[in-house]
Amino acid sequence: MPEIAFVNDVFMPLSEARVSVEDRGFQFGDGVYELLRVYAGVPFHLTDHLGRLEQSARALGIPLPYPRDRWAVVIAEAVSRSGFPDAKVYIQVTRGVAPRDHVPAGPMVPTVVVTVRAMAPPDPGLYAAGADVVTVADIRWARCNIKSIGLLANVLAKQQAREMGAVEALFIRDGCVLEGATSNVMIVKNRCLVTPPEGPLLLPGVTRKVVLGLAQKAGVSVQEQPVTEAELHAADEVFLTGTTIEVLPVARVNGRSIGAGSPGPVTRLLMARFREARGDAPS
Ligand code: PDD
Repeated sequence: MPEIAFVNDVFMPLSEARVSVEDRGFQFGDGVYELLRVYAGVPFHLTDHLGRLEQSARALGIPLPYPRDRWAVVIAEAVSRSGFPDAKVYIQVTRGVAPRDHVPAGPMVPTVVVTVRAMAPPDPGLYAAGADVVTVADIRWARCNIKSIGLLANVLAKQQAREMGAVEALFIRDGCVLEGATSNVMIVKNRCLVTPPEGPLLLPGVTRKVVLGLAQKAGVSVQEQPVTEAELHAADEVFLTGTTIEVLPVARVNGRSIGAGSPGPVTRLLMARFREARGDAPS
């Protein structure tokens, strides 16, 4: 079963996919992206991902070449060509190809890349025991709600986490925790779920939205408000949400146990509810 790429309207094996060295994505990180999951052949919350892609592109003045129904057709065909029932779909749209100049040269034809790769099931041991995370200073720009391909600060944070034996780095700015390098963060205190509110300093995660909905449906009280670093450490439970990690319990922050140091009841409830929801794969 092949890994598939779709580059500017042409499907091909991923190994054959090419873009120009003068692509502004390559030279400036001038582009946007999405990553979404396919469960049993069905894209998970495709409409939400396409909506966010549109918002990101609009924020940067990059015209998206396709309407939503065309994206859906391209993704369905790429997934079907790959033959992977459980897959991750990466979408990248850059401003286009032009001789290097910081100022974009008039209207350009955006470069579109879609790739489909198999998604290995997550390590059950990690989810049973809970993950280690570390905190890092947030050195990112002030428009983190845009899903830009410029991810250097996230890359460095993730690398730092890995070197410290952790799976995720949580960004701290002005004494508050905002999100992870590739995930949103939620804490539970006295059975109340608290997560930082949407705004320019964090990505409005699709999984975040799904999980907040599941929590409300399950009767868990939800508050979207700033979370201080002290509140993070003193939480009864901490967990992460994201397309690749789904709902991942955190056992330790900077080596210090959260609660009992194992996944708590609210986290376990939401892990179970998320597993049910992804079975339905609603759009
Ligand atoms: N990243 N915050 C950041 C900074 C992210 O990069 C991501 C996801 C999330 C979670 O968003 P969602 O639930 O929509 O996946 C939050 C993807 C997985 C990535 O960059 O690969």
